[in-house]
Amino acid sequence: MAAKKGGKKTSKESSSKIKKTPTGMPVFDKMCDGGLNSESVNLVVGGAGSGKTIFSVQFLYEGLRRGETCMYITFEEKRDELFENMLEIGFDLEKYEKAGNFIFIEYSPEKVRAMLEEGGGTLESLVYKKKINRLVIDSITSFTLLFESELAKREAALSLFDIIKRWKCSVLLTMEKELSADELFYGSESAMEFEVDSVILMFFLRIKDGLRQRLIEILKMRGTKHSKYAYPFEITDKGITISKSPLKKMNFRN
Ligand SMILES: Nc1ncnc2c1ncn2[C@@H]1O[C@H](COP(=O)(O)OP(=O)(O)OP(=O)(O)O)[C@@H](O)[C@H]1O
Ligand SMILES: [Mg+2]
Repeated sequence: MAAKKGGKKTSKESSSKIKKTPTGMPVFDKMCDGGLNSESVNLVVGGAGSGKTIFSVQFLYEGLRRGETCMYITFEEKRDELFENMLEIGFDLEKYEKAGNFIFIEYSPEKVRAMLEEGGGTLESLVYKKKINRLVIDSITSFTLLFESELAKREAALSLFDIIKRWKCSVLLTMEKELSADELFYGSESAMEFEVDSVILMFFLRIKDGLRQRLIEILKMRGTKHSKYAYPFEITDKGITISKSPLKKMNFRN
């Protein structure tokens, strides 16, 4: 991490030795002491339209800008649609795809299951061959739906995380889950959230004046003194912009 002015470490500064990966969202990086832990597996949880895909692409785009190689695996998004939508908010994925730094892969949940059974398979070879630095799987929800019981879902997710972990990339997985004001007050819990290095929650809540408000919160991040507040954010034609001031007053409808 960059040293602060004067070079002397203050008690507020990170004493963590963990290498950090900046996300392209400066306020988010401040919330977690410099970014995501490098080579960690992170889960972004939120409901439909909460901003999971944009968050993930913004994270990859920051890597692309820094000359890294990034891979986006999706079960749901169509390439042309995604590229078009992302261009609207300033992320020119095609440019980096042509240069060979951005790799878009449309994969079926069944193929991921096959990859687990093969212990890595062709996807793993591709990750190693292309020397991928940042990886997104958007979303793992349809993959977990292949398994019926909670136990089977958890086991499948665990073996997926185990395989991904050895790829040594900074990984974002998205997960579809409606988050209500209750989760903001009392927390969110699922088997998956215990297995990953960090959990990021994205809310889109109705407030008392009738509008919806977007909020982002770090529920956990291993080895990191992260912010305990939720932060309002907006999606504009420049992507995600997070407010510097956290939410301190709750004003949500029940
Ligand atoms: N150019 C834009 N300007 C302003 N807001 C935008 C723009 N593009 C997208 N949005 C907002 O972002 C939302 C979609 O964000 P995103 O696709 O990241 O959500 P998601 O959580 O991935 O949703 P899903 O569950 O459908 O995959 C849109 O519903 C819209 O509110
Ligand atoms: Mg999405």
